[in-house]
Amino acid sequence: MAIKFEQVSFQYPSFDGKNFSALENINLEISDKGEFITLIGETGSGKSTLVQHMNALLRPNTGSVTIYGIKIEKNTNKNKKIKLNPLRQKVGLVFQFPEYQLFEETVLKDIIFGPKNFGVKEDEAIKRAKEVIKHVGLTEDYLGRSPFNLSGGEQKRVSIAGILAMEPDILVLDEPTSGLDPKGRDALLELFTNIHKKLNKTIIIITHDMNTVYKYASRVVVMHDAKLVYDGLPNMLFMDENIEKWNLDLPDIIGITKQLEAKLDITFTKKPHNVNELFELMKGVL
Ligand SMILES: Nc1ncnc2c1ncn2[C@@H]1O[C@H](COP(=O)(O)OP(=O)(O)OP(=O)(O)O)[C@@H](O)[C@H]1O
Ligand SMILES: [Mg+2]
Repeated sequence: MAIKFEQVSFQYPSFDGKNFSALENINLEISDKGEFITLIGETGSGKSTLVQHMNALLRPNTGSVTIYGIKIEKNTNKNKKIKLNPLRQKVGLVFQFPEYQLFEETVLKDIIFGPKNFGVKEDEAIKRAKEVIKHVGLTEDYLGRSPFNLSGGEQKRVSIAGILAMEPDILVLDEPTSGLDPKGRDALLELFTNIHKKLNKTIIIITHDMNTVYKYASRVVVMHDAKLVYDGLPNMLFMDENIEKWNLDLPDIIGITKQLEAKLDITFTKKPHNVNELFELMKGVL
C-alpha cells in the first residue's frame, strides 16, 4: 500500500490553548495502482488537512501515516534523519490556493523548480515545462510571464503544471477545478482521467461537485466533522440515507431521477449515469 493512515488524529494549535481538532481517528489506505478517488465533505470537514498528511506537510498528533514505507508520526523528522524529498516526488500535492505554491519570478522557473529539486537536469525540466503547460490548457507564451500577474484560473493551471512536471505516482489535487470555467474544468478532468488510465497513476481530487464524483470517481471518501464517514463506491454513496446529514448534494442526474420516481410513484432498479440511461429506464416502465 502506497499510503496508509492508522488512527490518525490532528489538532491545529490555537493561541487560547484550546486546540482545534481537524482529524479524528482516520484509517485510510491508498494504492498507487490506478485509483481515481474523490474526497468530499462540507466546508471545514478536514479535507485539506487530510491531504496535507499524504506527503508529510503535516504530521499526525497521534497515530501514523506510512508513505512508501516511511512512517510519519508526531516526532518523525524532528532530528532531520528522514529525507522527505523522495516521498514528495512520489506524492505530488496541488494546494487549494495556488498562491501558496507559486513563488518564482516566471512561470517557467516555477514549473521547473520541483523537477530540478528532485534531480532532473535543467534541459529535461524545461522540456517537461513546455509540454505540461499545454496539457493544462495554456500556451508556451505563459512561460516567461510572472505567475503573480495571472488570473486565478491561470494560476491554478500553472500550479497543476508544476506538479505534473514532477511526474509523481500519486497526484493529489485540492479543488483543482474551482474557479475555472466549465470548458476548462471539463478539459482538466479529462486530462486527469487520461493520466489515470494511460499511465495507471492514482488521482485524488477534492471537490464540492457531485457530478464530478459520479462521472469520474471509482472510489469516494467522505469527511464530516473531522471524521472519515464513508469510503466506497460513488453509486452506493448516493443511495446512502446519511447524505443529507453529511450536507452533500446529489449529482444532477440522480436528483432528476429521484424526482421522476416520486412523480411516477415507482423505483427504478438502478440509478442512471446520464440522460440516455435514464431514457432507457423510462422506456421500461412507461
Ligand atoms: N492553519 C489552521 N489553523 C487553525 N485551524 C485551521 C487551520 N487550517 C484549517 N483549520 C481548521 O480546521 C478545520 C478543517 O479545515 P480544512 O481546511 O481541512 O477543511 P476543508 O474540508 O478543506 O474545507 P474547505 O471545503 O472549505 O476547503 C476547519 O474548521 C478550519 O477552520
Ligand atoms: Mg479545503
